[in-house]
Amino acid sequence: MASELIAALESLEQEARTAIAAASNTAELEAVRIHLLGRKEGRLTALVRGLGNVEPADRPAVGATANRVKQIISTLLDERVAELTAPAATAQGVDLTLPGRSAWRGARHPVTVVVDEICAIFRALGFTRVRGPEAETDWYNFEALNTPLDHPAADAHDTFYLAPGLLLRSHTSPVQIRTMQAYQPPIRVVVPGMVYRRDPFDASHAPAFEQIEGLAVDEGVSFVDLKATLAEFAHRFFGPEAEVRFRPSFFPFTEPSAEVDVSCLICSGRGCSVCKGSGWLEIMGAGMVHPRVFENAGYDSERYTGFAFGMGPARIAMLRYRIPDIRLLYESDVRFLEQFA
Ligand code: DAH
Repeated sequence: MASELIAALESLEQEARTAIAAASNTAELEAVRIHLLGRKEGRLTALVRGLGNVEPADRPAVGATANRVKQIISTLLDERVAELTAPAATAQGVDLTLPGRSAWRGARHPVTVVVDEICAIFRALGFTRVRGPEAETDWYNFEALNTPLDHPAADAHDTFYLAPGLLLRSHTSPVQIRTMQAYQPPIRVVVPGMVYRRDPFDASHAPAFEQIEGLAVDEGVSFVDLKATLAEFAHRFFGPEAEVRFRPSFFPFTEPSAEVDVSCLICSGRGCSVCKGSGWLEIMGAGMVHPRVFENAGYDSERYTGFAFGMGPARIAMLRYRIPDIRLLYESDVRFLEQFA
């Protein structure tokens, strides 16, 4: 009788371990507790009642087992309550209820944003994005573009020479020549990339900056195509209300040449400090490709005509984001860059 009771108590202990571990919330656990330890109907209580039938000499041993099993079950119940009610703390002591630290997110530089947007607009107008080398020869940078080395226009492009005849390109225009050497018309390309000039680093100049060149060549391309394409670009980039004007200008590699202005983004043309009271902002140079440039690139200048343009996305980014000093664009200060994320 005594040994049977001890075996029953021990199997109750095993059953209790399983039932307690399986309880998935405090209500379930309370039901398990009542089932095991309840004063009236509990399983342990029922077993302890059987103690009366045990030989008096065996009672202490059975009683001790009953107490031990009760103790174990109570401890298991307490531990499980603690587990079920604790804030999601894990064994490693990591408090999963704390708010997370937001992850570091990178972002494109404001000039990159503008370059990508401009290229996307030209892509929709049929222009392919291409690149060219930053180390160029005199010939590609100047002479092929109808700019003799002793021409005053070359002075404005005073640049860094790497070796005699080899320089850091002062504009992206040499890629016009490279593109025409590599492909036959019709051609429509935009060329983003860095250019270099021996300019002092001040609020509005940098010795290295981004440009975007454009070139369209085919039979019968006229100044109307130039105006329509660049006006369409300006409306898509600056907004449909932006006005565009073309002023006569000079570049050695285009004839005729123009400066392209857009109505001031800040004051909509009324006149402010950004447009210096004029109501207009200069956004690019443009023109019809000079016949000599076609000849230098190996194209038949009697057959083909085309237009070209060149703009400075850093300047456009400064206008759009109202960045007062170009040097800020060269900072790696995250507090500045984060504003464009
Ligand atoms: N290459 C000129 C510069 O850096 C910009 C330019 C003007 C490019 C007129 C052109 C153009 O293609 O047609 O100052």
